[in-house]
Amino acid sequence: MPQLHVVNHPLLQHKLTLMRDKTTGSKEFRELLREATIILVTEATRNLRAEEVRVETPLAETTGVKLSGKKATAVPILRAGLAMVEGFLQLLPNAKIGHVGLYRDPVTHKPVEYYFKVPACLPERDVFILDPMLATGGSAVQAINFIKQAGARSITLICLIAAPEGMAEVEKAHPEVAVYTAAVDEHLDERAFIVPGLGDAGDRLYGTE
Ligand code: PRP
Repeated sequence: MPQLHVVNHPLLQHKLTLMRDKTTGSKEFRELLREATIILVTEATRNLRAEEVRVETPLAETTGVKLSGKKATAVPILRAGLAMVEGFLQLLPNAKIGHVGLYRDPVTHKPVEYYFKVPACLPERDVFILDPMLATGGSAVQAINFIKQAGARSITLICLIAAPEGMAEVEKAHPEVAVYTAAVDEHLDERAFIVPGLGDAGDRLYGTE
């Protein structure tokens, strides 16, 4: 899959392993996801638009680089994706934030929409969708559908763990969307949970098991 980027940085893999551990509690789990997001976002933003500028140091004038164009936008998929926003904003403090509310029906495993709000001028912005888990891919494909309908042209999906099934769905529906992840796991179980995965990210983040 040409648009799949598995980020193998040892710091990220270390944090992911701690998150997989079932004895890791909510507080540590949230902190680890924020830190992991910083590493994933660093990789996923390599192609952000930038321009050369002149800058005067205390000693001399030189050439530097500054981001250019409209501010980037993060769109977390509620609710687990919310826990990735802070990490995103640590790197891009002036980013705009949209929100997509989707939950997965426990019987059909299909995404159900309950909220959608994104910034203006979306066609001119680089949009980064945030969701720790890409399982069947239903939520990500639906979120990308909505964001495209809102006009976005540059969309990247950032997740912590992807299932091969979800990757295939995203590639089939939106082949131009790049996906950045820390791991592609083995498979989905009968409840459409990622195996080995880390359990239900939303429940572990917010203590709702
Ligand atoms: C989880 C996860 C993704 C989705 C992935 O959210 O955070 O959004 O499931 O599954 P999919 O690829 O099969 O669509 P969930 O629906 O449990 O909602 P939550 O974040 O509110 O817990």
